[in-house]
Amino acid sequence: MKVLLVGGGGREHAIAAAIRKSPRVDKLYCAPGNAGIAEIAECVPIGVMEFDKLIAFAREKEIDLTVCSQDDPLCAGIVDAFEAAGLRIFGTRKNAAIIEGSKAFSKDLMKRYGIPTAAYEIFTDADQAIDYLRTSKYPIVLKADGLALGKGVLICQNFSEAEAGVKEIMLDKKFGSAGNELVIEEFMTGREVSALAFVDGRHYKLMTSSQDHKRIGDGDTGLNTGGMGTFSPSPFFTPEIQAVCDRTIFQPTVDAMAKEGRTFKGVLYFGLMLTADGPKVVEYNTRFGDPETQVVLPRMKTDIIDVFEACMNGTLDQIDLQFEDNAAVCVILASGGYPVAYEKGKVIHGLDHFKGRSDVFVFHAGTKFDAQGNVVTNGGRVLGVTALAPTLKEAREKAYKEVQYISFDGAYMRHDIGHALDEI
Ligand code: AMP
Ligand code: GLY
Repeated sequence: MKVLLVGGGGREHAIAAAIRKSPRVDKLYCAPGNAGIAEIAECVPIGVMEFDKLIAFAREKEIDLTVCSQDDPLCAGIVDAFEAAGLRIFGTRKNAAIIEGSKAFSKDLMKRYGIPTAAYEIFTDADQAIDYLRTSKYPIVLKADGLALGKGVLICQNFSEAEAGVKEIMLDKKFGSAGNELVIEEFMTGREVSALAFVDGRHYKLMTSSQDHKRIGDGDTGLNTGGMGTFSPSPFFTPEIQAVCDRTIFQPTVDAMAKEGRTFKGVLYFGLMLTADGPKVVEYNTRFGDPETQVVLPRMKTDIIDVFEACMNGTLDQIDLQFEDNAAVCVILASGGYPVAYEKGKVIHGLDHFKGRSDVFVFHAGTKFDAQGNVVTNGGRVLGVTALAPTLKEAREKAYKEVQYISFDGAYMRHDIGHALDEI
């Protein structure tokens, strides 16, 4: 079959690699893709929000299945547009993608259905938000309601930080219209786990667990980013904790969405915090996580096309979802200055070292070819090095050894991805 993958980040590179493993796929296109994806798929220069062009391309090439796992096009209705055109697509419809697209929606959903999450208030008026913050307990968390590339969350230690945060989000509109509404949330403490699930509207199948490192700096300091590195599985997400989540979070969320008339199909990402009061939801995403996917999918044994189709057909209960009994660690290389300001166009050296390897992968995030055919940086997060090994600690050691083969001007990485593993 012919498949079209929409997107061009590290997550899409990992999805493309999984799709290429399926013996059912003869041809893979990716729009727009990147320099790494170009090695395993034919990249086509169409943007992820250009639905009309994507649909025309899918028709022209007689694409059998389109796959989209990126928040902006999903929340803007790419699945609805393809379906209206009579084309098959894996992803979440607009009315269900709101679970990521609006934090106010997802918080209210959890409250209505008794799904454990941090206590919160929602504001549409900056002065009222600031008044509320005068008497709040600190630290406290401010979240722009809408999509903000994983950066619209501020953890504030005191009133003056919070006041400045409200101004940034609601008045200066640092995250654009995402800041029209503000969620102010109780600060939770505990370990974070990312639990990704395939969902077919009624049933879900949980993938292996992982943990992201969202802050830019070592020791989990500095600004939030899209994610600076991951490991999988999370040894802290025990079968006992999973059983609690199945009962209190995962199935209740799938059921709640169906009851609301927002039947959820696709990948549902549960960002969890394992608090002293039990697991609670930090956030939902309507897609594979980035860079969680770069450690989860290389460990998946089941044919991903079979799983995608089962989600679309409502037959996920018949899929036996299997993962390797090994471990993976991904270290992200970013452009110096990310997540604030950074330069692009730096030549990336050392990629040839990884050719033909099956235990280490370089997943490209922000890369492209320059006019001379060099692979150059083209974004904040540039690429991720994922190492597979029998154990987490071996995978971490290997990832940090292998990442040294890559260099570009201003390359930045965290040196402590997987630091929590030192406690086990
Ligand atoms: P989100 O985009 O909602 O996942 O938030 C980004 C990151 O901010 C999370 O991964 C957490 O590390 C942190 N965070 C978000 N909400 C809370 C909270 N209520 N308490 C503590 N940390 C939080
Ligand atoms: N790694 C976090 C996310 O994909 O939202």
